Amino acid sequence: MIESQDLTKKFGDFVAVDHLSFTVKSGEIYGLLGPNGSGKSTTMRMLLGLLKPTEGTAKINGHGIKDEIVKAKRVTGYVPENPVLPERLTGWEYVNYVADIWRVDRGEERTEDIEELLELLDIRDASDDLIETYSQGMTRKVSLVAALVHRPQVLILDEVQAGIDPRGAATIKEILNGLRRRGASILMSTHVLEIAEQMCDRVGIIKDGKMIAEGTLDELREKAEGQSSLEEIFLELTGGPDMQLIASYLEDSGEEN
Ligand SMILES: Nc1ncnc2c1ncn2[C@@H]1O[C@H](COP(=O)(O)OP(=O)(O)OP(=O)(O)O)[C@@H](O)[C@H]1O
Ligand SMILES: [Mg+2]
Repeated sequence: MIESQDLTKKFGDFVAVDHLSFTVKSGEIYGLLGPNGSGKSTTMRMLLGLLKPTEGTAKINGHGIKDEIVKAKRVTGYVPENPVLPERLTGWEYVNYVADIWRVDRGEERTEDIEELLELLDIRDASDDLIETYSQGMTRKVSLVAALVHRPQVLILDEVQAGIDPRGAATIKEILNGLRRRGASILMSTHVLEIAEQMCDRVGIIKDGKMIAEGTLDELREKAEGQSSLEEIFLELTGGPDMQLIASYLEDSGEEN
């Protein structure tokens, strides 16, 4: 369970996250949606103890992120927006290194778990190659395997499907569904609204660091009267493209040809 209470982050005078409160229950996938720069990654980094909140706090499975961050981290798996992994290790070495840090001690079962996950994500064959040779999608997949090795009850995934091929995305979806059934709390951000629509039990839409709408898709549909797809709801709440400006740009750029 993730409980965020008035979580706030200021960088100087700029308020990146503004009194954000939300809960991700056990057995729930919660989607954090919002335009670029709206504060999704900053919120996640605070929940993980990577950034100190200016105000407010949060609990991860009952452990406060201020005074019990080590306990909170122990139950959490995280895939960052742009995973930076040690390039001189192979995928296999990296995942096992992370498992060692977590002191995952399940003997043969640990090796089987890791092999299974790598196989599922189609990176078993590449796992003996150095990470520096990996594509963006492969790096993200390895980062996901590493996030799962200690069987976390809470998962924080920052655009985990970005740059992943359709088969990989479908696999990730099934893995997350399985973890949800086992009672995990999953907080994910995505710009792919179809993914949010298919996977999330509830979504929170944030803009300028503030929660502007939250609920199940049905609840959001009610709020954004008449709009039926999440894309329509999202654009209605956060503002759609500026058609006038686009038209003016296209007109101007057309003149040069
Ligand atoms: N270390 C930092 N110092 C100063 N400003 C920062 C810092 N980190 C983030 N910000 C600012 O905070 C705001 C929120 O950034 P954040 O990365 O949380 O957005 P986001 O919702 O994850 O966006 P995206 O969808 O592009 O990933 C942005 O305006 C960003 O410039
Ligand atoms: Mg982000």
